[in-house]
Amino acid sequence: MQLLCPQILILLSAIGNALAILRDTGSGVSCESSAFDLPEVLGTRIISLRATPIFNDSLALDRRDVPDRLSTLPGAIDDGLDYCNVSLTYTHPGLNDSINVAIWLPLKSHWNGRFMGVGGGGFNTGYSADSSFPYNGIGANFSTMWTSGGHVYPTREDPFPDPAPWGLASPGVVDFNGFNNFASLTLHEATLFGKAITENYYGRPAEYSYWNGCSQGGRQGHMFAQRYPDMYDGILGAAAAINWVDIFQFMLWPQIVMNQEGQFPSLCELEAIKEAAIEACDELDGLKDGLISANSQCTFDANEAVGRLYNCSGEYVQVSAGAAQVANAAWRGPLNIDGTQQWYGTSKDTDLSPIANTTISSNGTREVNPLFLPHDWIRVWIAKDATYKPALATYEDFDHFFHTGHQIYDSPIGTVDPDLRAFRDAGGKFLTWHGVADAFIPFDGTVDYYNKVLQRDPSIDDYYRFFPVPGIGHCGGGPGAKPDSSLETLVNWVEKGIAPETLLAMKKSTNGSIEYQRPLCRYPFFTVFVGSDPNLVESYECRESF
Ligand SMILES: *[C@@H]1O[C@H](CO)[C@@H](O)[C@H](O)[C@H]1NC(C)=O
Ligand SMILES: *[C@@H]1O[C@H](CO)[C@@H](O)[C@H](O)[C@H]1NC(C)=O
Ligand SMILES: *[C@@H]1O[C@H](CO)[C@@H](O)[C@H](O)[C@H]1NC(C)=O
Ligand SMILES: *[C@@H]1O[C@H](CO)[C@@H](O)[C@H](O)[C@H]1NC(C)=O
Ligand SMILES: *[C@@H]1O[C@H](CO)[C@@H](O)[C@H](O)[C@H]1NC(C)=O
Ligand SMILES: *[C@@H]1O[C@H](CO)[C@@H](O)[C@H](O)[C@H]1NC(C)=O
Ligand SMILES: *[C@@H]1O[C@H](CO)[C@@H](O)[C@H](O)[C@H]1NC(C)=O
Ligand SMILES: *[C@@H]1O[C@H](CO)[C@@H](O)[C@H](O)[C@H]1NC(C)=O
Repeated sequence: MQLLCPQILILLSAIGNALAILRDTGSGVSCESSAFDLPEVLGTRIISLRATPIFNDSLALDRRDVPDRLSTLPGAIDDGLDYCNVSLTYTHPGLNDSINVAIWLPLKSHWNGRFMGVGGGGFNTGYSADSSFPYNGIGANFSTMWTSGGHVYPTREDPFPDPAPWGLASPGVVDFNGFNNFASLTLHEATLFGKAITENYYGRPAEYSYWNGCSQGGRQGHMFAQRYPDMYDGILGAAAAINWVDIFQFMLWPQIVMNQEGQFPSLCELEAIKEAAIEACDELDGLKDGLISANSQCTFDANEAVGRLYNCSGEYVQVSAGAAQVANAAWRGPLNIDGTQQWYGTSKDTDLSPIANTTISSNGTREVNPLFLPHDWIRVWIAKDATYKPALATYEDFDHFFHTGHQIYDSPIGTVDPDLRAFRDAGGKFLTWHGVADAFIPFDGTVDYYNKVLQRDPSIDDYYRFFPVPGIGHCGGGPGAKPDSSLETLVNWVEKGIAPETLLAMKKSTNGSIEYQRPLCRYPFFTVFVGSDPNLVESYECRESF
């Protein structure tokens, strides 16, 4: 070796490192396509399995701008990673579909003996390696799996691809097999494949399995607990889209009201109303912190803010009666044509801009500008017409969306079965949290589900715990403190039997430094300020009322 020049030595060392993962044998098999046994899962046929070693992956480095919605473990890293990249493609014979499952396997010497399924968002069954999501698992040494669900993975350029190409078989025709793949079936199969590949590679099965998801991923977590209760030992399913039809009705409602009433308030007016509500209701929870924690006690009516002048980044606006009507509608929630309630609304400190946005046309008039999620849902699965514009619908149409939606789609995707006893009996633990100021999925829907599970089983506390998060929006964002250790908390619950009384939340400033931490109490308890310094964790207690 001494005879070789330094450059060659460096080259050889790099090749040696690259080969290390190929030789990452120990027990189990090596990272080569032909080394793996093709797992058998009833109702599926594997089309291909590719395994390639990845050395010093830094893909995630330039993806740190992607909002980090999934929880990770402390110490997890997202660059310089070595792993075995397994990509498996299968079909359901007779359906001619094609589903991809990605399984990333950390080095044998690094593996923590755990398996993680990673959830999706919006109409994505799973995220892609193009986002930073899978790195949350692999960076913490979990064998990490996610699936395409049979349709395209999102990309960085197109994080929420149009679902119409897979949702509709042809104009007017819903692809129900594709929908079922998305709702539940492929998630179960991908988990079975992922566990089998993990066992094959390491020569022993994973000791513990975890699901990690928010929003769609939170719904998927609940779906597992309800339909496949023994798949995961621990499920983290936050801000869950479980009340499937209802949440889209909620998200579309302000647009319907605006268009039907001919009132198109500016976002500045809605901001002014939010500020007025916070002034009125902030201290109902005993602490003036700019958040409304006791939203159910806040009786503020947006009409009280009409006429108020507001400095919106230097532009002065006066709150109109139309703006108050739209804010009250979003807070109250969607209604049927006969005035009965369809679903819950938001807290009054919620940023309504995603669901009550407008555009200004070339002649200066304002028009509806719906959020893509309810727009996609209704045009593809209810109207079955990719060109349909739901925000222009009448109150009658809106009523129809609600009833048709429930009739057709509750069974495949309405994830609200309150009977979690099989999950309980399998020893599973479920942790969920939900931002009180969520503008996409009403917080009160999770309260509703919790109460229904509780009604069936008073021992809910042993396996299902729910943590409200004041001042936080959908899966994060907003002025409040965000849960920061939920995955770690879940792992400790599953593996050490430490059931969490509180969940620690953290408020970070834009440069990433910690401003303060706050304990979050589990529902039905509330986080009540009892000390003198609001920035101290010790200043809070869990009580049954504020
Ligand atoms: C890994 O990649 C980074 C750049 O992304 C590089 O700086 C580093 O030297 C590489 N490490 C090894 C061991 O090759
Ligand atoms: C993993 O393998 C799949 C299939 O071969 C490939 O498409 C993907 O780009 C690979 N991932 C990485 C990070 O190289
Ligand atoms: C099956 O799907 C492929 C594309 O995935 C398509 O090319 C082929 O025509 C389909 N076959 C049938 C019988 O529908
Ligand atoms: C992953 O495993 C490596 C090797 O054992 C270890 O150095 C690292 O701290 C582990 N990462 C985490 C987040 O536990
Ligand atoms: C209004 O807001 C702008 C920008 O946020 C600020 O520069 C200005 O000082 C404010 N005006 C008053 C009277 O506070
Ligand atoms: C509102 O709509 C405008 C115009 O389409 C867009 O630029 C802006 O990002 C939207 N805001 C929100 C909060 O969705
Ligand atoms: C402004 O343009 C929109 C279409 O962009 C149209 O619907 C509306 O009637 C126009 N309003 C006026 C006052 O011309
Ligand atoms: C980060 O920002 C906070 C204020 O938001 C400031 O107090 C702190 O010094 C900053 N830290 C660094 C490392 O820049």
